[in-house]
Amino acid sequence: MSILDNVVSSSAAEASGLSQQAFNELRALIYDHTGIYFRDNKQYLLESQVGRRLKALNLTSYESYIELLQNGRRHSELPALVNAITINETFFFRHPKQYEAIVNDVLPALITKHNRSRVRIWSAACSTGDEPYTLALLINEMKRRRFSKVQFDIVGTDINTAVLDKARKGTYGSYAVRNTPDRFLNKYFRAEGNRYTLRRDVTDRVRFKHLNLTDPSAVRGLRAFDLILCANVLIYFDRDTKQAVISNLYERLRPGGYLFVGTSETLHGVTRALQPVRFNNTIAYQKEDRHGPK
Ligand SMILES: C[S@@+](CC[C@H](N)C(=O)[O-])C[C@H]1O[C@@H](n2cnc3c(N)ncnc32)[C@H](O)[C@@H]1O
Repeated sequence: MSILDNVVSSSAAEASGLSQQAFNELRALIYDHTGIYFRDNKQYLLESQVGRRLKALNLTSYESYIELLQNGRRHSELPALVNAITINETFFFRHPKQYEAIVNDVLPALITKHNRSRVRIWSAACSTGDEPYTLALLINEMKRRRFSKVQFDIVGTDINTAVLDKARKGTYGSYAVRNTPDRFLNKYFRAEGNRYTLRRDVTDRVRFKHLNLTDPSAVRGLRAFDLILCANVLIYFDRDTKQAVISNLYERLRPGGYLFVGTSETLHGVTRALQPVRFNNTIAYQKEDRHGPK
């Protein structure tokens, strides 16, 4: 057998490419379930992401994979598909200006002006937990200086079950902690080689839950929050889905509560229900306080 024969026979065993029709069917299915919309120029990306599922299931065509999703095995495969197609990029201390505003302005305002003895915080689309854990670390430091009697509940949710498993474990590579100031790294993480594991009392502070932001009844099932972070996920949605998700979040915000989106994202043209509030170099969106400013 020549080298060329080898190449030909191994590629014959591989899945054939993602046809335009299969792409359209897959993206419609993904959009219906997650709100994530694959634009035409992302066909190659979907092909490679779903290609991994084909390999895992020993399937040789995207058409047979779609068939599987449409028949009885849909419920077992759908979570695996979601895990394969979501982009989960995140890291500790990703948005320093926002964290600064939260610690210096937002939380003190909620506690003093709005008289909260219990502050509820939601990291919506939290991926591997870096964002809610960053908040837990900052709040732990803040509580030592002020507000020691205030209780902070932190919840992280995501549609991807694999990242939530990782979040619950609380172990990270050096890339995830690259922005973490040394004093936090030394105090709250145990380092083993290039792995960093959060202290148990920190991981215990955050509750993780599987949740689809486009599912209004699932979102309604959560208790209301004073502060919601929903960063770097709206970018995957079209305008209708953005509006639906923001309206779901709005419902879960307590009067006077704050919403932060990613630093390169805006709610301009998405909603008028939330008022932009400017802090030093960053913006949050606030829900009107029924009782007016105190
Ligand atoms: C790029 S990460 C952002 C993580 C974090 N918020 C940050 O800014 O660092 C986007 C996350 O959104 C999640 N996601 C995508 N669609 C979702 C949906 N419909 N409901 C809930 N989470 C979703 C993905 O699984 C992924 O973990």
